[in-house]
Amino acid sequence: MSDILQRDVTTAAALMRAAQKIVVFTGAGISTESGIPDFRSPGGIWSTYNQDDLTYQRFRSHEKYRKIYWEYDRARYPAMRDAAPNPAHRAVLEIEKSGRLLALITQNIDGLHHKAGSSPEKIYELHGTVREVTCLDCYRRWPREKITEEMDREGIDVPYCQHCGGPLKCATIAFGQSLPPEVLESSFDHARNCDLFLTVGSSLVVQPAAMLPVEAKRKRARLILVNLSSTPYDDIMDVILIGKAAPTMEALMDEFRRG
Ligand code: APR
Ligand code: ZN
Repeated sequence: MSDILQRDVTTAAALMRAAQKIVVFTGAGISTESGIPDFRSPGGIWSTYNQDDLTYQRFRSHEKYRKIYWEYDRARYPAMRDAAPNPAHRAVLEIEKSGRLLALITQNIDGLHHKAGSSPEKIYELHGTVREVTCLDCYRRWPREKITEEMDREGIDVPYCQHCGGPLKCATIAFGQSLPPEVLESSFDHARNCDLFLTVGSSLVVQPAAMLPVEAKRKRARLILVNLSSTPYDDIMDVILIGKAAPTMEALMDEFRRG
């Protein structure tokens, strides 16, 4: 590790030890080392799929877009279903076990924080979850496996609700779809009440999620960023650790324990 990075890890660990109410905020970058591609790195999901075809409005508008959406979703699902948490997810669990975690807010739909053992009641999935399927009309929900097994068995491309005939969609938030209001409101409350806001693996380009660190800063929290590339909010960060999430979070927790 470079001397600069080591110095910044030491500073970040000291901030964590001094904090009592930490919010950890994660993006797709925390899961790439678990084999799940992110969205905006070279080769990421948005370089292979056309975002415009995958909006909520298009999904609602025509069966052909529902077919495109389900093809996209079924292509990415196996990697998420089979992925294992990596040391960065386990570092977040260790922060919770230290008694300092106020909330774990994630943009990720892969469920890896749950698999790592983080407490479900601490986890706020801003963009939903790939582990369930929901009816867009009657809001019933089913475990993802149940629906995809039926789709495989019956050769169904686009599933509809057996209760009301509404279109079924995985329980993630598509572009143009509103975020679950109670999850969003609680996330901003926690951002305003924390004393340290740690962002791991996000480009911070998608709103309203990207405003969470800004809100935390407005309320005088300290900000740490662990990421491979720069973000539009680098200038408000107290410490920026440029590096891969797994080794960087391991180094941070080693230093945190030494204190
Ligand atoms: N370690 C650290 N950072 C990483 C790693 C890694 N191993 N791999 C990628 N990154 C960084 C990238 O450099 C990038 O800045 O993580 C960030 C991932 O950014 P995005 O791909 O934009 O993912 P995210 O910020 O989570 O996107 C937010 O956009 O498309 C929507 O709904 C989708 O939830 C997603 C939202
Ligand atoms: Zn229904």
